[in-house]
Amino acid sequence: MTSVLSPFARRRSDLASQLAARGGGVAVIPNAAELLRNADTHFPYRSDSSFHYLTGFDEPDSWLVVFATGRAVLLCREKNLEREIWDGMRLGPQAAPQALAVDEAFAVGQLDELLPQWLAGQPAVWFPFAHTGLQAQVEAWLKTVRSRSRSGIESPSVMRDVAALVSEMRVIKDAGEVETMRLAAAISANAHVRAMRFCADRFRAGAAAVYEYEIEAELLHEFRRAGSQSPAYPSIVAAGSNACVLHYSGGAASLHPGELCLIDAGCELDGYASDITRTFPANGKFTAPQRALYEVVLQAQKASQDATRPGARQRDAHHAAVRVLAEGMLDVGLLERSVVGNVDAVIETAAYRQFYMHGTGHWIGRDVHDVGDYMASDEPAVEQPDGLGGKVVKKPSRVLQPGMVVTLEPGLYVRPAPGVPEAFWNIGIRIEDDAVVTATGCELISRGVPVAVDEIEALMG
Ligand code: GLY
Ligand code: MN
Ligand code: MN
Repeated sequence: MTSVLSPFARRRSDLASQLAARGGGVAVIPNAAELLRNADTHFPYRSDSSFHYLTGFDEPDSWLVVFATGRAVLLCREKNLEREIWDGMRLGPQAAPQALAVDEAFAVGQLDELLPQWLAGQPAVWFPFAHTGLQAQVEAWLKTVRSRSRSGIESPSVMRDVAALVSEMRVIKDAGEVETMRLAAAISANAHVRAMRFCADRFRAGAAAVYEYEIEAELLHEFRRAGSQSPAYPSIVAAGSNACVLHYSGGAASLHPGELCLIDAGCELDGYASDITRTFPANGKFTAPQRALYEVVLQAQKASQDATRPGARQRDAHHAAVRVLAEGMLDVGLLERSVVGNVDAVIETAAYRQFYMHGTGHWIGRDVHDVGDYMASDEPAVEQPDGLGGKVVKKPSRVLQPGMVVTLEPGLYVRPAPGVPEAFWNIGIRIEDDAVVTATGCELISRGVPVAVDEIEALMG
């Protein structure tokens, strides 16, 4: 039977069942705090990802309380005409039950009065341990409950981290979430197309250089024009050798004909991230060395895509990409067989890390680096390569299931160094797409922007 509950109510109900299955108790989940930028100016407000996942509610100063019995209560700001004139509409506790399908709602000002009442007689209190300052607040509520113990009221004896439960729920995306992620990825893909065309047009018109910030402006324009609320993370626009800085955050350097431009940028849409990287020639035509490395990275991404399917492990995509990259390093001469040996030796000794030093993907969802375990917590630890040329005993990577969403983002980054052919110096390439695990494999939802060499050259030509 199809559930008639909203996704938010269904998730709260799931959470309540999980609390009940783990001995019961009450979960207390605050929304994110507003952050002051300076003086009386705030950073743009963004809800806490898990709070929003469970409520669909976007106001600061709000709290969700879920009981193991299934009861869900919201605390939020009261209506206040004066404040609403300045800051915008407030839902208010009166309208909240109907608007959000919670059982009851109260003014947030009653938090410290109500929580001790609700915690009384409960076996456990669940809250996100990572939320700054919350533990002290919970302890204060528990102290109040204990002070009433002479009247026979019992206080929760256990504190547990509710994030462990909600994070795990968030790992598998439902159809509605995948649909939103598909839209976010489509907007981001269009933004990358716009940036490529912008560079091509500028250089065709005779520009000697294009600034990174000009290209970033094209991305932001396309994100907002299409309804995205913001970038999902600070956009990386790296001209030439800046692409070899993995977390490059400059923006004022200039891109010249003959150089590559690496853009790692994705928008957030209705709370969901996208994360795309493309690397393209400034003036639309790859040089031979650029093309040689690009093809290696593209093949590595294809190998990681083939390794991303139900039953495979999340880390398999990385191992598949590393093997192709290592082979490519030997074939193009970044590494010399006479020095480092064959591809197995390159992997065994981690010699490939000179040119590929990051992982091949991460969960993506509400957060660009989304929550969720990467290890199979229910399997025994086993000996495995540590990726640095040694061994480590740890739990295996977890098995993929339909509805999980990962990025696939291999790269090659060549810094000038003795023994490295000069033709490759300062080339940095990454190709990144977002992959939804399906029943039989995976689907790349971010391919609205070309990735093949001839397609990029055609788009920019
Ligand atoms: N854009 C962040 C990442 O690729 O992980
Ligand atoms: Mn990524
Ligand atoms: Mn990225």
